[in-house]
Amino acid sequence: MKIAHISDLHFSSSLFVPRWAENVARTMEKERPDLLVVTGDLTNDGYASEFEAAKSFLDSLEAEDMLVVPGNHDSRNLGYTIFEEIFGPRFPTYVGRGVTVVGLDSTEPDVDDGHVGREHYGPIREQFNGQNIRILALHHHLIPIPGTGRERQIPTDAGDLLGVCKEVGVDIVLSGHKHLPWIWNLDGCFFITTATATTRRLKGRSRPAMGILEIEGRSLVLHDIKTDDLERAIVLRTELRVR
Ligand SMILES: [Fe+2]
Ligand SMILES: [Fe+2]
Repeated sequence: MKIAHISDLHFSSSLFVPRWAENVARTMEKERPDLLVVTGDLTNDGYASEFEAAKSFLDSLEAEDMLVVPGNHDSRNLGYTIFEEIFGPRFPTYVGRGVTVVGLDSTEPDVDDGHVGREHYGPIREQFNGQNIRILALHHHLIPIPGTGRERQIPTDAGDLLGVCKEVGVDIVLSGHKHLPWIWNLDGCFFITTATATTRRLKGRSRPAMGILEIEGRSLVLHDIKTDDLERAIVLRTELRVR
């Protein structure tokens, strides 16, 4: 099972770099993943034209399936209604090839703070059943990330969500928002944040990037691919714990 993880495309931002988007497309053509996970901020302001541009870009990528969740920028200006119209449910699910991916909308209209809400914890518990690898995908980070300055916008219910992750044995959490790649291992669950793939909205001298996850049985290999020059490195090689 191969999953490509991209985030924070910010279509129509003045800092969007078309060449980096082309490098994402080239990587997808080479990797041909089974699933593309996009963890939000497809747009800069939630406008319909931005969603349309993001949709046509994502549809042009080589991936068998796609799971997309909105980011705080997508929920501006009623953007969450356009998101549903163009991409479907804000809480999407993928089940296949030994993995279950549950997507969460961690946004609220016109605010940048994250929030998922306890009404969604039940469905998370119900969807993670059986032997599949359990992956959550959401825009906001659940654990603070070094090198990203003053902590803000972490979901108001991050602690409770971490509790749900522990309780149901989530294996991997994919997120974006911080525009800086990072991995935390908390009690055997890997919290993988990827950078912005296509914009200069970067922290200091950090670089744009995307992730490729290779999952065989309970083995996980994570490749970080810089989208400015396609430099590639394995940043995680691990056995996921046996449940
Ligand atoms: Fe972003
Ligand atoms: Fe964001």
